[in-house]
Amino acid sequence: VLTATEGPDTQGWRELFAGRVAGMENDALATLLGLAGREDVISFAGGLPDPATFMTDRLAEVARQAIVDEPGVALQYEPTPGLPRTRDWFRSYLARREGVATTFESVMVTSGGVEALDLLNKVLVDPGDVVLMEAPSYLGAEMVTTSYQGEVVGVPMDDDGPRVDLLRDTLDALARRGRRPKFIYTIPDYQNPSGITLTGERRAALVALAAERALLLVEDIAYRRLGTGDAQPPTLWSLNPAGVVLIDTFAKTFFPAARVACVAAPPELIRVMTLAKQTTDQFASTLSQSMLLAYDRQGWLDEQVARARTIYTRRRDAMLDAMGRVLPAGLQWTRPGGGFFTWLTLPEGVDATALAPQAMARGVAYVPGQPFFTRGVDGRRYLRLSYSYVAVDGIDEGLRRLAAVIEQASAPSGEGI
Ligand SMILES: Cc1ncc(COP(=O)(O)O)c(C=O)c1O
Repeated sequence: VLTATEGPDTQGWRELFAGRVAGMENDALATLLGLAGREDVISFAGGLPDPATFMTDRLAEVARQAIVDEPGVALQYEPTPGLPRTRDWFRSYLARREGVATTFESVMVTSGGVEALDLLNKVLVDPGDVVLMEAPSYLGAEMVTTSYQGEVVGVPMDDDGPRVDLLRDTLDALARRGRRPKFIYTIPDYQNPSGITLTGERRAALVALAAERALLLVEDIAYRRLGTGDAQPPTLWSLNPAGVVLIDTFAKTFFPAARVACVAAPPELIRVMTLAKQTTDQFASTLSQSMLLAYDRQGWLDEQVARARTIYTRRRDAMLDAMGRVLPAGLQWTRPGGGFFTWLTLPEGVDATALAPQAMARGVAYVPGQPFFTRGVDGRRYLRLSYSYVAVDGIDEGLRRLAAVIEQASAPSGEGI
């Protein structure tokens, strides 16, 4: 597990580290990775897609096709913002899904959603700049901003998503200090880590406030296609394409190792992100892009998404049902309308970070909530439970183990140990 200052440094190389390395340190991620993969542990920790959603024969077929039929494309250096055909494909994909036509210059392909965030921070964030995020938010996004020495400021959430009234207060307070945030990052659909969906009404309010204050919105729709029902509020991007960067990764709907995401954004941002991409990977895998397009042409992407939705809906239902039966009375948790996560609130005074090793000792893993908050915010009462990767028949037992640990910790002192 990676931390920059761990282990011996016999040659003194650490003295060479750039200042930004300090912003890359994150024990939380180390903990998360450390929890994954132990056989005797029922893990609600990792947010991985279920391999049962991968249609391997078909993937092999489109990979073979791409390599054999068009090696000059699928195996070759290609333009930095993506194959022209991928960019056109994404435009029609967005028109179909989000009902908005966009230009060729407004879209690009990146190596996953994280690279899109990295490029965006690279071109927007100088050391000390403020970036706003929901509190809690996706750890990866926070890590990207802090790796560029940006300052993450949290916007509290309730069950309807980030509080737009409090965002207004935060913007006012920053403006009084002469600070203009570089952007606000949001995951409106089945958020990681909370499972919360931003309501339609609040989306309109958020877009209106952002437009009024010239605040750039960055919308990550990593889980949007994985809703359990059919009705969905519109994307922020569709409400105001000129003011929103939309990041649409195919990691959860195609497969993570493809490392394909698409971005729709104002063309001036696409232009500088493309410049930044020239010095990272030059272009997202053309083999992956070719596979994705061929896969969708056959109707298999829609088929895989439908299949994934069935699998995750079953898993979500089993999870919420078991939580209601097994967890101690008085706890609260979110009821996600899709995605991979539910978010549990422990009784006052019970610390999910402190409890994690005891839970591990009993054979159950989760991710403590604290790291999903910015520094200075007390998130110790929260924890994230992921149901995307746990076997359905392990859910009850996993939650029973968790319940035992929570009950012990909540017992009046003296009885708990
Ligand atoms: C909200 C969110 N955005 C982005 C990602 C990462 O996307 P990718 O694998 O495409 O880099 C994740 C993965 O966990 C995520 O939860």
